Amino acid sequence: MQIHNLSETPTILNTFISEIRDKTIQKDSMRFRRNIERIGEILCYELSKSLQFETHNIETPLGVSNTVLHKNNIVLCSILRAGVPLHNGLLNYFDAAENAFISAYRQHKHDPESFEIVVEYLACPSLEGKTLILADPMLATGQSMLATFEALKPFGTPKEVHLVSVIGAQKGVDFVASEFDTNTHLWIAAVDETLNDKGYIIPGLGDAGDLAFGNKLQQ
Ligand code: URA
Repeated sequence: MQIHNLSETPTILNTFISEIRDKTIQKDSMRFRRNIERIGEILCYELSKSLQFETHNIETPLGVSNTVLHKNNIVLCSILRAGVPLHNGLLNYFDAAENAFISAYRQHKHDPESFEIVVEYLACPSLEGKTLILADPMLATGQSMLATFEALKPFGTPKEVHLVSVIGAQKGVDFVASEFDTNTHLWIAAVDETLNDKGYIIPGLGDAGDLAFGNKLQQ
């Protein structure tokens, strides 16, 4: 796997990451969603450098500009619900992309420290020969990313696969690196040290879904 950890180079991206982590600033849910979206836009811009390009002749009012444009058929797939702001950020730039949505959640049976990923709702176009971008803002264990990828298999074989995350735990990064093909790319804004016993990233930011959309009733 080719891992692109964008915070290895200090840029304006770090400002947005610091705001989603900050326990005071993150309480403003509109700002939290918008910051995730801005991070998605930056990840998208970096990812776009790895796409395939071709020259188009664009007619301006005064002449013709030879412009190099990407030629990938992109499908953006996100996991509900925390993935929605990241999805919007990616879609702001890849505005012609097709879209897939999946609901995947952790089901704790008896032991609160162990869980399985349950996939329920899934809406997806054909993936055959396309560029699949799988987005999950918090790459904790990596199991949701893998469960989603497995659930998408009946929809066709993508030409290439890109994973996009905002914050990951080293364990999750190592897991996806071992499970996905070597030519898969991971685009990630920050990688943290560890996970706590409930599977939350430490230091992380807390629960991305709750911060974006409000607390849920635990069932
Ligand atoms: N999901 C979250 O929202 N936060 C984490 O730290 C891990 C998974």
